[in-house]
Amino acid sequence: MTHSNYPPGTGDTQAPLAWHDGDMPFSTAFGDHFYCQTDGRLECGHVFLAGNGLPGRWNDAERFAIGELGFGTGLNACETWRQWKQHRKPGTRLHFVSFELFPMMAEDIDRALARWPEIDTERQALTALWPKHPSGVVEIDLDEQTRLSVVCGDALENLSASALAFDAWYLDGFAPSRNSAMWSADLMQRVHDTTREGGSFATYAAAGFVRRNLIATGFDVERRPGFAGKREMLCGIRQPA
Ligand SMILES: C[S@@+](CC[C@H](N)C(=O)[O-])C[C@H]1O[C@@H](n2cnc3c(N)ncnc32)[C@H](O)[C@@H]1O
Repeated sequence: MTHSNYPPGTGDTQAPLAWHDGDMPFSTAFGDHFYCQTDGRLECGHVFLAGNGLPGRWNDAERFAIGELGFGTGLNACETWRQWKQHRKPGTRLHFVSFELFPMMAEDIDRALARWPEIDTERQALTALWPKHPSGVVEIDLDEQTRLSVVCGDALENLSASALAFDAWYLDGFAPSRNSAMWSADLMQRVHDTTREGGSFATYAAAGFVRRNLIATGFDVERRPGFAGKREMLCGIRQPA
């Protein structure tokens, strides 16, 4: 299904995957894991939720839009949905929009996420609704207060053509040294420009060029302690014009 706010997606290509320790996906195309080997679910809470002031900011919002660069296994989407269900108020709505060049197959998503019993319900719902051949824009109403959109194709191309505005961003490309397109000055600028004033971003990455690109866009960038002993992560706020 497509949506008028989105450009036509592409991205019906698979990227080669290897599996480490049985259930840890590893991209052989990019030479990187999809999340930290310690505990990707807890990393998501530390980096992406807390880095964006969530779940606290959900208290004040009737509608909240999260953008994500890199849907991968859907771990961040499932953990965010789990926490959203615990904290949301009646009648409020969350739209989680993720940009993904190589959408995974449902059975791979299932294999990766089954390691976390905490998100069993979310994994089962996501994989049951996930299309057999994901391409274009995958739109899933996870429940009556939660919509997931996965925009398949190159993130810069699709975000450049998108008219959506976001309250928070999860910047989750592979390591900047291996996936520089996901951290480019042009893409970071587009992330900034599609963020509402007072909106935010968070990322596990702390590479110098990523930080400089984010500062150059106009974000107020802060360094924080990273997850599981990682020295730093970055988060920031879009200032009023
Ligand atoms: C670190 S993984 C994301 C992990 C994910 N957030 C999760 O919860 O599992 C990075 C993702 O970025 C995607 N990616 C890499 N280059 C891209 C590009 N140019 N446009 C869109 N997605 C891209 C990869 O296919 C991969 O799924």
